Amino acid sequence: MSIAVVPVAGLGTRLLPLTKSKPKEMLAVGRKPVVHYIVEELIENGVDQILFITGAGKTSIENYFDLNESLVNMLRERGKEDALAELQLDYMPVKYYFTRQRQLLGLGHAVQSASDFITDQPFVVALGDSIIHGGDAKLLSRMQACFDKNECAAVIAFETVPKNEVYRYGIAHPKTDDDIFELADIVEKPTVEDAPSQLAVAARYIFNPVIFEALQRTTPGAGGEIQLTDAIRLLIQDGHRVYGVRLTENERRFDIGSFPSYYRAFIEFALADPMYGEDLRKYVSDLLKGES
Ligand code: UTP
Repeated sequence: MSIAVVPVAGLGTRLLPLTKSKPKEMLAVGRKPVVHYIVEELIENGVDQILFITGAGKTSIENYFDLNESLVNMLRERGKEDALAELQLDYMPVKYYFTRQRQLLGLGHAVQSASDFITDQPFVVALGDSIIHGGDAKLLSRMQACFDKNECAAVIAFETVPKNEVYRYGIAHPKTDDDIFELADIVEKPTVEDAPSQLAVAARYIFNPVIFEALQRTTPGAGGEIQLTDAIRLLIQDGHRVYGVRLTENERRFDIGSFPSYYRAFIEFALADPMYGEDLRKYVSDLLKGES
């Protein structure tokens, strides 16, 4: 596994006005922006080329992964070694590429924008607004092992969500009850009554390039968007095998796409800060005591 596609072109309308002039993928979670965690996760799992699918107003993501030589030189000259270390320059050896999704036609269309970049090798898709945290950070490696073992067109990460939240996600219809399972089907945003399980797509995928052909045949759904889930469904209907890998008990997906989940993510990461977490814990606890 060496290539990952990270779609970051979406408008983030659920986070307005915060996202009016700042990409949601650059929002701070603790000390770092969301995309920094994603790049760390990709590197830890063997990715060495990252293609961002960007759009208007997303240049701060390109700037973030640029070397920024003048800042580095200034910090060196002033002897600010701690600040230099915080920049974590060792991430720079990864190769970053950027292309634009020229029309915002949904996540499926964003992935399709990578088709000229991918030749015949499998590739990871990691959504730019979701952090996978906890456990041994090896979800993608487990997915890759599943991909290598089974002749399949795709492997998708799934997390269990409460029943009343299934309508927000792509939901698996698993063939078995195992941690790694083959999919009988996948449904985009089902009603609670129609949901085949509580297993929701968790922002990480590995695809065989055959997905591009399926995406081309996928007709736009609600709001004129090309849904990635619908293309995966086509793969299954064509007789391709698609597998699911469950997040472990210790792995969590932090979705930065809405205010409630963004707030939760920020608080959890800030409370875990090695330097300031403990004081913050006391502050929050006093604050809550004052409320009761
Ligand atoms: P979302 O499904 O949350 O969509 O994107 P969105 O448009 O960003 O947000 P809302 O619904 O308006 O609040 C999941 C990931 O896919 C990317 C987003 O940038 C985000 O990282 N995405 C989504 C694209 O790259 N292109 C799209 O057309 C849609």
